[in-house]
Amino acid sequence: MVDVARLKAEFQALYGAPAQVFSAPGRVNLIGEHTDYNEGFVLPMAIERRTYVAGAPNGSSRVRVKSLTVGQSFDFDLERPGPKRRGTWLDYVEGTARALLDRGLPVVGCDLLIDSRVPTGAGVSASAALELSVGIALSMLGGTADPDRVKLALAGQAAEHQYVGTMCGIMDQYIAAMGKAGAALLIDCRSLETTSVPLQLGDVSVLICDTRVKHELSSSEYNLRRAECLRASNILAKSLPGVRSLRDVSPADFAKFATELPGVVRSRCRHVVTENARTLAAVTALTAGDLHQAGKLMSESHVSLRDDYQVSCEELDVAVDVASAETGVYGSRMTGGGFGGSTVSLVDTAVIERVSSVVKAAFAARGWNEPELFASQACEGARREA
Ligand code: GLA
Repeated sequence: MVDVARLKAEFQALYGAPAQVFSAPGRVNLIGEHTDYNEGFVLPMAIERRTYVAGAPNGSSRVRVKSLTVGQSFDFDLERPGPKRRGTWLDYVEGTARALLDRGLPVVGCDLLIDSRVPTGAGVSASAALELSVGIALSMLGGTADPDRVKLALAGQAAEHQYVGTMCGIMDQYIAAMGKAGAALLIDCRSLETTSVPLQLGDVSVLICDTRVKHELSSSEYNLRRAECLRASNILAKSLPGVRSLRDVSPADFAKFATELPGVVRSRCRHVVTENARTLAAVTALTAGDLHQAGKLMSESHVSLRDDYQVSCEELDVAVDVASAETGVYGSRMTGGGFGGSTVSLVDTAVIERVSSVVKAAFAARGWNEPELFASQACEGARREA
């Protein structure tokens, strides 16, 4: 955790003014992967690791921003849009500011100091944590007392699309904006309605394993998967007139019309259709406190992502397989976009240390970097710190 008092003191020393502090969390997705851009269902929770932004209005039209995490400073003028896709963290900051203005939310010139505990490249959405922490800071410093969470999330997504160049879905920004302590969030990515799903975990924990690998493929393959899904829904719409996206294809429809799809596209479609069904089934299981069933669905999700959607990698598979073989592990899967990043497992709290050491040993035996394993409670979304 970042020490809020220390961050305020650093801000004062840097900019010579008192600051307010805001924060937003990273996330882990329990189930519902690569379904958001198909207007389907996802079930993420916000994690304990957060990005913090200290800020104060500076009476000009400029935003001056320093990141303690990367040790760099930038500034930009709100009245003169800067270049897009610079390929640095400033794209997220300036993109969010522009997207807020585009949505009619007041933004004033500010000084900002950022510090983050959300690991980057770990598949726990450090980018949405940055967008939402900056978004809530700029909105509240601009005079909006209680910023609309949906607008904040959409502004973060627009920053990704327009400034960063990643055509992501809405999951990451939504959970960073709307996470609740002790609950996962079922998001209907068509209606954008959310349902809080309290996690009755008792002596069970959500264990995250950051494999510390990130394969270069991730963004090109992500966009390719999106295109393959669109192709599948266009083909199926010819036989099923109600189909607007893969969200509208039921498992029964898929069984009936799968042969109309070319091989790879068929596999992609099977993943999305079955993953939507698994996500809703996992909500039922978690609501009933049936962790064995929830874990089983998570493990099935991994197999589907590995074999049908082909977004896993060797390191993720090893982390999942090694953890799954341990007693006290209910289920395990890759989480996030894939091609590296993290896995998420449901494990008895008593076996966290053992599971962590066997996964680390398996990585060491292959000559890979040591992964980082940490448990997290479900936490609150973007907020002003006391
Ligand atoms: C990334 C994207 C999300 C979602 C996941 C896969 O995290 O940002 O919108 O598509 O991949 O489920």
